[in-house]
Amino acid sequence: MANQQQCVIIGIAGASASGKSLIARTICDDLRQDMGTDQIAMITEDCYYKDQGHLSMEERVKTNYDHPNALDHKLLCRHLEQLRAGESCEVPVYSYVEHTRMPQTTKVTPKRVIIIEGILLLTDPKLREQMHASIFMDTPLDICLLRRLRRDVEERGRTMDSVLEQYKQTVRPMFLQFIEPSKQHADLIVPRGGKNRIAIDFLKAKIRQLASD
Ligand code: CTP
Repeated sequence: MANQQQCVIIGIAGASASGKSLIARTICDDLRQDMGTDQIAMITEDCYYKDQGHLSMEERVKTNYDHPNALDHKLLCRHLEQLRAGESCEVPVYSYVEHTRMPQTTKVTPKRVIIIEGILLLTDPKLREQMHASIFMDTPLDICLLRRLRRDVEERGRTMDSVLEQYKQTVRPMFLQFIEPSKQHADLIVPRGGKNRIAIDFLKAKIRQLASD
């Protein structure tokens, strides 16, 4: 079981649909091959969107999901502290269709490496303090929008009009106000998206080194 020294926390931030989960998954899969499947976990900031079970669907749709207030970073911080202390945590399960948390949770047990990914991770000093290294995905916004449009329609039950309206009203303005400025806190800035092989190999080498210190 991991102890406080052994748990390495890596944060990956960047715009919506910038390739955060792809790079995080690729690094996790590659590292699992040589470190073992039970040594690495990936946690998504999206699981920590606040519960909106008390609101009607009409009200939930109006939430600004790209503002830091939409997220329960306190709970995420507490879970990271638990994992670093060698305790398990119960990560909420979130539904983009229902716009709220589901009744079930996912148990995450302590690991040598925890990779967290999400748009607003680097805006929060308490989360930044927990990270051993942080990455910002610097993917061009037009590429992000194209990816988001396809993904939200195919996987998140949205219409094209609703995706474009949300993009104009909140996604883009919040990126400019909160996410883009948080790039200054990253240790490493990755251009061209989640398939940047050189960046992946550098990150894997650094994570292996941190995990063996
Ligand atoms: N979001 C939404 N509706 C909700 C909750 C979140 O539309 N009920 C959107 C927010 O607008 C936010 C996005 O979800 O911009 C965050 O997810 P995103 O970062 O796009 O997902 P990832 O898969 O992590 O992105 P990437 O492609 O970078 O991996």
